[in-house]
Amino acid sequence: MFLVTGAAGYIGSNLALKLLESGEDIVIFDNLSTGHQKIVDKLKTLNLKGKVVDFIKGDLRNLNDIEAVFSKYKIEAVFHFAAFSIVSESAKNPHKYWENNFTGTKNLLDAMKKFGTDKIIFSSTAATYGEPLYTPIDEQHPQKPINSYGNTKLALEFLMDDYSKAYNIKSVRLRYFNVIGADKFQRTGEWHDIETHLVPNILKSINDKNKVFEIYGNTYNTKDGTCVRDYIVIDDLINAHIKALKYLQNGGKTDYFNLGTKEGNTVLEILKTAENITGQKINYTIKEKREGDPAILIADNKKAKEILNWQPEKTLEEGILTAYKWEIANFKKGL
Ligand SMILES: NC(=O)c1ccc[n+]([C@@H]2O[C@H](COP(=O)([O-])OP(=O)(O)OC[C@H]3O[C@@H](n4cnc5c(N)ncnc54)[C@H](O)[C@@H]3O)[C@@H](O)[C@H]2O)c1
Repeated sequence: MFLVTGAAGYIGSNLALKLLESGEDIVIFDNLSTGHQKIVDKLKTLNLKGKVVDFIKGDLRNLNDIEAVFSKYKIEAVFHFAAFSIVSESAKNPHKYWENNFTGTKNLLDAMKKFGTDKIIFSSTAATYGEPLYTPIDEQHPQKPINSYGNTKLALEFLMDDYSKAYNIKSVRLRYFNVIGADKFQRTGEWHDIETHLVPNILKSINDKNKVFEIYGNTYNTKDGTCVRDYIVIDDLINAHIKALKYLQNGGKTDYFNLGTKEGNTVLEILKTAENITGQKINYTIKEKREGDPAILIADNKKAKEILNWQPEKTLEEGILTAYKWEIANFKKGL
């Protein structure tokens, strides 16, 4: 039995789906702060090989809530997605981020320690690197986050190292770059009530003619002046989690890996691709650069390829197409 924290959210629900499809039983733990009951309901009603054995509406900030899960179920491993992740909000309200991301995860690790669960796969982020000193960014790149969100995630990487050494709780920390796309059957997808990510915002500006898509800066030192990011499609990202689980099950040591494609695309390239895929013209406007937005962020993914035996396979177009289908399905008639 696996525990998935944050499975009412975007990435956690896609991982939950994958586990259910492979015949695994799961327990979902989520406080629905940014996740959605409808997504949990969907996961529960799908007739797949595995089952959602329980949905526990609990909060990681309450040690009792999470201990109750481990006392009720024998959990082999935890996939831990639950966190707050809006960078700008973290700068204004660091307390909220340290309490939720750091204290919440520390409670989770303490509950694992108490009840003898020794494997965790954790959503870390490219934000732990901060301003890139070189590109593509490999795992040896110095980690110097430039916002509270990145700081909380980096602190958790340290905490996981300590818990690995002292208590033998093995972790794989996956440092995601920019995740895009949705389930190909639109059973789940990206659904943030405050949406800060590029692709859903581009697609929303197609679905809502009153919205004009905003590009932050077009004078970066890149081929068209807009920022370059590494877009990884959700199916590939999820596969890496399954590989990470196998790695730990086979006795792999605590480790960390970048998840990206080693390819970069500018904002304008993404916009043009979205126009081609949807056949719609996208209205956009150029705004001021945002503080803390590096010109280029691209992952070196050699380590995940070599050690996890993982390979990204989906194209940017596939990612944008599934995201578009999800937007249409969700926008027009809900889940
Ligand atoms: N989306 C990305 O591109 C991206 C990039 C890098 C890292 N990440 C990380 O991946 C993880 C998942 O991201 P997402 O985009 O799916 O976010 P999301 O907001 O869609 O999902 C997070 C889920 O965690 C739940 N949650 C939050 N705090 C909780 C708490 N204290 N107790 C219980 N549940 C709680 C929320 O209700 C939500 O369902 C996060 O840890 C995020 O930092 C995401």
